[in-house]
Amino acid sequence: MNRDLLGIRQLSTDQITDLLRRSDGYFLQLNSIDPFRKSSLLDGRTVANLFFENSTRTKTSFELAEKRLGATSVNLSMQTSSLTKGESLIDTVNVICAMKVDCVVVRHSSSGVPQLLRKHLPDHIRIINAGDGGHEHPTQALLDAATLQAKLGSLKNKKIVIIGDILHSRVARSNMILLNKLGAKVTLVSPLTLTPKYVEEIFGVRVVHELADEIKDASAVISLRIQFERQSRSLFPNLSDFRMRYGLTPLRIMETNAFILHPGPVNRGVELDNEAADSEKSLILQQVKRGVAIRMAVFEWLFEDK
Ligand code: CP
Repeated sequence: MNRDLLGIRQLSTDQITDLLRRSDGYFLQLNSIDPFRKSSLLDGRTVANLFFENSTRTKTSFELAEKRLGATSVNLSMQTSSLTKGESLIDTVNVICAMKVDCVVVRHSSSGVPQLLRKHLPDHIRIINAGDGGHEHPTQALLDAATLQAKLGSLKNKKIVIIGDILHSRVARSNMILLNKLGAKVTLVSPLTLTPKYVEEIFGVRVVHELADEIKDASAVISLRIQFERQSRSLFPNLSDFRMRYGLTPLRIMETNAFILHPGPVNRGVELDNEAADSEKSLILQQVKRGVAIRMAVFEWLFEDK
């Protein structure tokens, strides 16, 4: 039985391929059957969405996936919970789980919270990591891979360039692990100050600090948001300098046929100019559409009996 999805690192290449195949099925269903008829896969199941950090895409798509599979969903957010009165995270989650919950979807600004919950929650409760600090965001990496495969076919030996704030990015970490497992050639382009130490050795990627010609021969570019909320002081001179060195400007996108991805939310005029975010090469809304299908596939995978 697949009990949890805590990170991409836990998944074998076969499991990733299996999840992507399942999500393709859901994606076709979601786009071809109108109105989409609810499945009964999660009938009688209750899923708690515990978002202790803000989210638009991930939270909404998990909720939609749960509804489309027939689950009962409950939602808790940091701002309205008794955490604000001093209740501990573990006590809060135990309270929710005492109400007969089958699965917890958790997002938290601290790395390692899903793993911590695994130690404290009863075995039968499935846990899905919806993004933990700077650690991992497994469903984002899966939906990115699904989006890329839909356009590029096999990702083996495809050059994928990840640009921007790698240091604070859980999306970059999950993507590096996943794209490596699928045989893609990953290049990181980021300022030295936004590049994690030893990232080449740990993740088997190539690292450069100047964009120059890097995207000209790329199959796809994943641009990342600068995570101001995780920086106590600025790690680059100013936004205009960052845009000039690392932003996807109209000139830069004219020089490449690479598809453009971004996990969102986008800082327009910084990582992506409007001409890039809204161009024909942009797959940003395709990523969002794939997000619901991937999360449906993850639920199917977690709740199937082996
Ligand atoms: N990509 C992503 O995690 O976006 P949200 O923060 O809106 O969920």
